[in-house]
Formats: sequence, C-alpha cells, structure tokens
Amino acid sequence: MQNEQNERSISVLSKEERSYAPSAAFAKTASVPSKAARAKLSAAAARSPEKFWDAAARELHWFKPWRKTLQWKVPDAKWFVGGKTNLSYNCLDRHLDGPRRNKAALIWESEPGKVRTYTYLQLHREVCLFANALKGLGVKPGDRVAIYMPLVPEAVVAMLACARIGAVHGVVFGGFSAEALRDRLNDAGASVVVTADGGWRKGAILRLKDAVDEAVKGAPTVKAVVVLKHADNEITIDETRDHWWHRLTAKASPVCPPEKLDSEHPLFILYTSGSTGKPKGILHTTGGYMTQTAWTMKHVFDLKETDVFWCTADVGWVTGHSYLAYGPLLNGATAVMYEGAPLTPQPDRFWSMISRHSVSIFYTAPTAIRTFMRLGEEHPAKHDLSSLRLLGTVGEPINPEAWRWYKKHIGGDRCPIVDTWWQTETGAIMISPLPGATAAKPGSATLPLPGIDADVVDMTGKSVPLGSGGYLVVRRPWPSMLRTIWGDAERYRKQYWSQIPGMYFTGDGARKDKDGYLWILGRIDDVLNVSGHRLSTSEIESALVGHPFVAESAVVGRPDELHGQAVVAFVTLKGGKIPSPELKELLREFVAKAIGSIARPAEIRFTDSLPKTRSGKIMRRLLREIAAGGAVRGDVTTLEDFGILAKLQQDEE
Ligand code: WTA
Repeated sequence: MQNEQNERSISVLSKEERSYAPSAAFAKTASVPSKAARAKLSAAAARSPEKFWDAAARELHWFKPWRKTLQWKVPDAKWFVGGKTNLSYNCLDRHLDGPRRNKAALIWESEPGKVRTYTYLQLHREVCLFANALKGLGVKPGDRVAIYMPLVPEAVVAMLACARIGAVHGVVFGGFSAEALRDRLNDAGASVVVTADGGWRKGAILRLKDAVDEAVKGAPTVKAVVVLKHADNEITIDETRDHWWHRLTAKASPVCPPEKLDSEHPLFILYTSGSTGKPKGILHTTGGYMTQTAWTMKHVFDLKETDVFWCTADVGWVTGHSYLAYGPLLNGATAVMYEGAPLTPQPDRFWSMISRHSVSIFYTAPTAIRTFMRLGEEHPAKHDLSSLRLLGTVGEPINPEAWRWYKKHIGGDRCPIVDTWWQTETGAIMISPLPGATAAKPGSATLPLPGIDADVVDMTGKSVPLGSGGYLVVRRPWPSMLRTIWGDAERYRKQYWSQIPGMYFTGDGARKDKDGYLWILGRIDDVLNVSGHRLSTSEIESALVGHPFVAESAVVGRPDELHGQAVVAFVTLKGGKIPSPELKELLREFVAKAIGSIARPAEIRFTDSLPKTRSGKIMRRLLREIAAGGAVRGDVTTLEDFGILAKLQQDEE
C-alpha cells in the first residue's frame, strides 16, 4: 500500500513537470501576448517598481495627484502619498459618461433561481441611496460598518456605499456564528451592522438577523442595525435600533457626491485566522488596493470589454472583495454573482449558470473542482460551456489531477488556467500566470507578477537556488499590501516582518523549480486550509476548552482528498467525564456554534493526555502523523494513550 502510494506520487511528480503553453489563438488578443512580453514587463518593473505602479495608478481617477509614489520604512508603507481619490467613484461614476453607462455591472442569481441585473447607472443610484442612508444614521468617514449578509447585490452596494463616504467596511462571512460576529464587532468597534432577515443555503434559510440580535447584545458600540428584506423569514425588530433597508433608502436622496479621500484612507477590515486564537483584522487602504486590484483583474484575467466574469467566492472572503466586487467594477466589467450552494438544486447548477449567462471567465477554488470531479463529468457535459475562454483557481494548491479535469471537462481543452496565489494580507493577486504569456504547469502558481518581488528564501533571507524549497516571502512593499492589524501594530510587525529579517513573511512554504516556477507547499505555521478557508488551530482549541467537560485540546490538520485538509481535534476530558459518541457530536456542534460550521472538526479523538515535550509543548508533528495515519480509527470513544508514544519520541530527540 505504502509502495503503491509512493509510486503514484512519483508519477504525479513527473507529470507535474509537463507544461501547457498558451495557444496562439489566445495569445493573439491577450494584453500580455508572449513570454518575452512578460519578461520585458517584469524586468522594467524590477528596475523601477514605483514607475510601474505609478503608471497603473494613472489609469484610474484621482481628484488630486500624489506627491510621492511610495514612502517606505519597514514595516510601514504608504502608496501614492498625498493623492486623493474615491474607490466607489472609480467603480461607478467613471463609467457613466461613456458606453458602459447602461452595461450590466452585476448579474445576480438567487438560489431559488431569481435573476436580477444592475447596470452601472442603476448600481450607482443604489449606492448613492444607501450611502445617504448610512449618513442619515450618523456614519462619518473612518467609522466602521459591519456587513453580515447573504451574497446579494445589496452586500456589494453596502461595500461601495461605505467606500463612497469614507466609512470602513468590515464584511463578516454569513456562515460565521453570532459569537464570531460579536468578537469582530467589538474588535472593530463597529457602529452600524448591515444584515438581512436571512439568506438561502441548500434550500434552507440561514437566519442572519437572529444571529445579529444575539451578537449585538454583547457589542455595545453598535448603535444601529439595517435589515434587508430578502428571505422573508420572521424576525424580531427592535424599533429603537433596527431599520429596514427599503424604508431608509425610500427616504434617501439619490445624490451623493463621493468623498475625496486620502490615498491611505482606511477602506476595509477583513478578519482572518493567524497562528493565535484571536482573529486578525487585516486593514487595507484606498489608493494602493484600488491600483493593484484593477491591474491584476485586467491582466491576469486578460479582461475584455465583452467578458462576463464569474468569481464564485462570497464577499465574506478577500477573493469576493477583490474579484467579485472591486476588480470587475474598477474595470467596467460584467460580473456574475450567485447567492446559493453549488449543488442546489442539482449538481449541474454552476454549468447551467455558465451556459445561461454566457460566462466567459470562471474563477473558483480547487476544493470545488474536486467536488465536481467526484460527481462526474456528465454534469458539465449536459451544458454548452463554449462561452468560456479562461479559467482560474485560488485558495489552495491544486492537485494536477483536478487541474487536468478542470481543463478538459470545463475548459474544453481550449481555455488556459490561471492558478493565482495571494492572501487576505496581500489584497490582490501576487503570483500567477498571465494567460497569453506564461506556460502553465499544473499545481504551480508559476511566477511573481511584474512589480512583485516575491521569492523563496532560507531563514536568513537568502534566496534559495533553483530546485530547492524554503519560505515564501515578498521583499518589497506592494500597493495592495495590508497596512496593519487593526488595533495591534506590534502584532503586525512581529507576525509579518520579524521572522525573516526585513521581508514580509507569508506563512507559506514553497519550492522553486528549475525554471524558477513557484510551487506552494502550504502553511508552515499553525494555520489550516480547509476547502480554501483559513482556520487557526488555536482558535478551534480555545473554542473546545470553552466547553465545561474539556480539560485540554490539540487541533491538527490531516490531509483530505476533497477539502485539502480536515480538522482533527484531540481532546482530554475533565475528571469524571466519560467519552461517548454523543459527546463527540456535542463537541463538534459546540465548535460550529462558537466559530461557524466551516470550523466543525471532522473528527474528535479522546485521549488520556496529550503528548508533550519536556518543556510542555504539544508534539504536533506526532499528532499530525497519528491523525493522518488513522491508526486508532474505528472506536471513537477509545481513550488513546500517548504516554508511551511521547516517551519514545522524547528519547529520539
Ligand atoms: C493559500 C485567499 C496554493 C496559501 C486568496 C495562502 C494558495 C492562503 C493559493 C491565503 C494558490 C491561496 N496555491 N496555495 N493559488 N492561493 N493559497 O487569506 O496558503 O484566505 O497563504 O486568501 O491560502 O488564504 P486567504
């Protein structure tokens, strides 16, 4: 068995080396049409990254030009210093004087199948109405507005309305629990929460307003809650605090001039998992984020005026911020949005949507592709997918098998695939093929984009030779870089700028092959990647020890064919508490309630004690091996005795 697996991975490795050059037909019309063109662009950008980004920023509208392109003192970057702009103006108003005025900006489909389209003109009007509604609630520039919504157009409207008036939005994924929402509201000091009665998910209603009611009880900074009527479920309204979206906007004026904001004005906070239990509020600012998001959207996706672009991410994640909302709108593109679950009502939902809306660029996560692969190619085969011309992936490494399936059964062997590496912290794509220029190798995100100084280095910061592995870093600041962790500048410095001297450390390990292509090996800190979503092991551990029966816990990831990684929790119980399958279920639900269902452990394993080193550190490597090997599977109630294992391990060290 072991041998079989080894052989398989060796053969996969050799196949990995196969590269897929862009077709002549695709390259002909691409914005960067050849390997040489990319190399030239990269060389120029490497000579002067500031000149490169300066030119990119000039393609957008600024009320006042900047004095200085970059001001940099580790770890604080300021881009386009002194410039004044507005992101909502660049996404909307800028397109209203030309042929894009009546072009579809958003095509939205609800899970039950309702379709709504907003032109740029219509979207502009909705944004102005809602911006004035927020102003009416007393929201001022710099105030934090939390958005906890289903994936509906109004979520994008609320984001753009904040950007218009200079409020800082903090989108919290609708799948997060009331407790997780409350923590984020408190950390950000949000004064307003925008939500909906409920949202659709797998044919059922997710009761968002109920969660908000619970969260706000413990969040004293929240003064007002705006509720969109969407799923029509019964909710309770607190007249002193809650406002219906439709009533507020019915009274509001449709005229709302954009605030002329400083390039470094805070744009949004987005929480993500780090290696400690407390989620980090990643802060992005206006001018730099706008510039890199616009550039990458245009060139990584080789965007054309007639494209219909569908990014399947929720706006609760950074991918939804940069490539569902801002990237497409900054470029005057047409974006598709889908509220619901991918397999509802049938496994061919996505393919039916691609066909019905003539989607030409499709951007999704490897975990979704693996799910579709498992369900079988007969589902995409039922639909005409000939409108597609480019595919993308994001969020985790894609295994070559899934890559080839995607290429063949979705892309008809005709569409290039861009495997894009980036993070919540980087704000926009950093490492990726340019589809008309870069030969793809399945499983590799290929090369750093022009203007991005990413590399694989050793612990001292020295670049590793071709063919070796190390830490993935970025040497110089880039425009859409996070500026800080909200309220914790010290954690920002320590987390990102102290591990490898003078460089931004991504938290990922990577390998550089003989052609300089980068292969992401995954996180090397205590962060898990489950279905492309980041989870911190210690966040789940602290949720578990919050249960009165639990004495101690250690959470690790085990490889999972479908989800990339699965959460395995080792748990020791307090004296007198008896392990049982019911308790296991209870604890799984307990975590789901504390954080959200994405964090629900796939497996709980009870143990008498956790294996620890002499200094008391949990031996995670050992637990990971045990979790991966599944040696003690079966009877889940068995108490595992790590005493001997730990002793053996210590003797080895
Ligand atoms: C992982 C998502 C391999 C990586 C945009 C990173 C990837 C983390 C890729 C960030 C990719 C993202 N190939 N791994 N193309 N894209 N990752 O913040 O470990 O949710 O550090 O941002 O996802 O996840 P985040």
